[in-house]
Amino acid sequence: MLSARSLFQEIIDNDDSYQLFCSIAASGEAQGGWENARIAALVPESMRDLAPKVTRHGADEDKHGRIFNGLLKKRGLEPVAVPPGTDYTMLLEQRGIGLAHEKLRRDQPLTEEDVLVYLSHSRVTEQRAADQMDMLVKYFGDHPEVGKAIRQICGDEDNHLAYCHEELLRLAYAGHGRAIQRTLRECALAEIAVYRDVSLAVMDHMGRILRWPGAKRTALALGIRAMYAYERAGGWRRMVQLRMPERRDPLGGPAEPAPAY
Ligand SMILES: [Fe+2]
Ligand SMILES: [Fe+2]
Repeated sequence: MLSARSLFQEIIDNDDSYQLFCSIAASGEAQGGWENARIAALVPESMRDLAPKVTRHGADEDKHGRIFNGLLKKRGLEPVAVPPGTDYTMLLEQRGIGLAHEKLRRDQPLTEEDVLVYLSHSRVTEQRAADQMDMLVKYFGDHPEVGKAIRQICGDEDNHLAYCHEELLRLAYAGHGRAIQRTLRECALAEIAVYRDVSLAVMDHMGRILRWPGAKRTALALGIRAMYAYERAGGWRRMVQLRMPERRDPLGGPAEPAPAY
């Protein structure tokens, strides 16, 4: 039977697939960390109060990168190069979603519009991260090797998502509602396609490493395409709704350390 649980079990059990999985995850988290650190440094004067939260967001993502690298080290593995087709962050940037890295490398302050784009992009990608971590915690939250790490990351991703809701609603109340809805929609529709392509690429690599038979690979690819069809038909709407979180200001304060890693 093909299930998310059995697939991840296989990926975790084999050193080569585990190495690729942790390397892809660590690289994506580290890129997120870099982006947030740059955005924090370039937040416009009028939005200065946001900067510490963006810094914290970046510190969390950097920490996640270190956690995934720590998981590799625990098993005596080195990180491997991330195949281009599996680079979610880079592919989103190539499609013009979020803030261009070229803009972030410059030392010019961002505009309020840029911050709106950053928060909308994060609203969508943090939803994906939170959903994936929820799935991993559901099946592997008690796993002796990865359980603790994924529970910690899951809690952080939930906070990141809550922070995006809160800050975007604040901007919406301040009169940016239409621009936010437009940007969120654009981000979500691009993200679901990138997520499909990355999922296909990751599963293709895993299939080769784990020598999955053709029928299993075909079934998996069909499943990924069916998921995309569902999201394209309306599932994407869950990524653009805004709700005020119960716990406000989840990124107030410094990042919690990850002592075990
Ligand atoms: Fe993360
Ligand atoms: Fe995150």
